[in-house]
Amino acid sequence: MNVLTTIAQLREVVKTAKYNRQSIGLVPTMGYLHEGHLTLAAHARSENELVIMSIFVNPTQFGPNEDFESYPRDFPRDTELAKSAGVDYIFAPSVEEMYPHDGGITIRAGRQAHILCGATRPGHFDGVLQVVAKLFNLMQPDRAYFGQKDAQQVAIIQTMVRDYNFPVTIRVVPVIREEDGLAKSSRNIYLSAEERSQAPAIQQGLQLAKRELLESGSVESAISLAKKIIHDNTDGHVDYLMILSYPDLQEVDDQTDQIVVAAAVHIGETRLIDNLIFSLKGEIIHV
Ligand code: PAJ
Repeated sequence: MNVLTTIAQLREVVKTAKYNRQSIGLVPTMGYLHEGHLTLAAHARSENELVIMSIFVNPTQFGPNEDFESYPRDFPRDTELAKSAGVDYIFAPSVEEMYPHDGGITIRAGRQAHILCGATRPGHFDGVLQVVAKLFNLMQPDRAYFGQKDAQQVAIIQTMVRDYNFPVTIRVVPVIREEDGLAKSSRNIYLSAEERSQAPAIQQGLQLAKRELLESGSVESAISLAKKIIHDNTDGHVDYLMILSYPDLQEVDDQTDQIVVAAAVHIGETRLIDNLIFSLKGEIIHV
């Protein structure tokens, strides 16, 4: 496995792969790899001749009071893990390499970014689209791999790919969880032992909301039950807990087929997100 730090090096690798008609799988990450990231890499490995993983903590998707500086980083460990997952190249540019100019042209996420994480993280998804569009242009991947863990992120990326004709297929990998149900996340390391023991309540709340929604058909009672489980079992504060159509992220109505139940919860200083996506075929829902 090789590590590339400049765009010039990356372009050479991509040019050679294209010349040899090798398919390219891209796995974008911010590093501090865990099994979630490695599962994306394993999918990429099984479907492509060349696998490139980017490791770049992207400053443009962090707000001024967010954890860009303190975001966990461990590059030596990441390279070992990526290598063992069969990644061919890591692309790990500096911030200056990725953003040498500011020509003032921006990409703005649309409607899907106004709610859920977008409501409390203004500009976050614009930054995600900016870096992802650059990575697509640089790697020209046949396939790019994203986790359902960030369901809103992948929905917004799919919209950009569709509306702006990026020639890439987006593959979505289910949420990888700890044994007790907590979604794996680079940020789980911030949790104290006490907070860590409370965190699975988020997933339990989402499961309960799903069950209640399918049984009673009531969005309202599903949301309040889930919030109650989280409040009763954690010292956390629910940033949002919503039930929306997926992937358009609108209010549920009788035309809705796919549903997302999504939550963001602050436990101590750590903001954790999780979601469940399921089909409503045949179920009657009252909003
Ligand atoms: P990061 O948080 O490092 O996540 C990289 C990819 O791994 C994302 O597609 C994310 O959804 C996926 N992932 C994280 N935890 C997962 C889990 N438990 N199960 C399955 N997949 C999981 O998301 C980002 O980085 C950035 O926003 C990025 C897309 C790289 C742009 O900077």
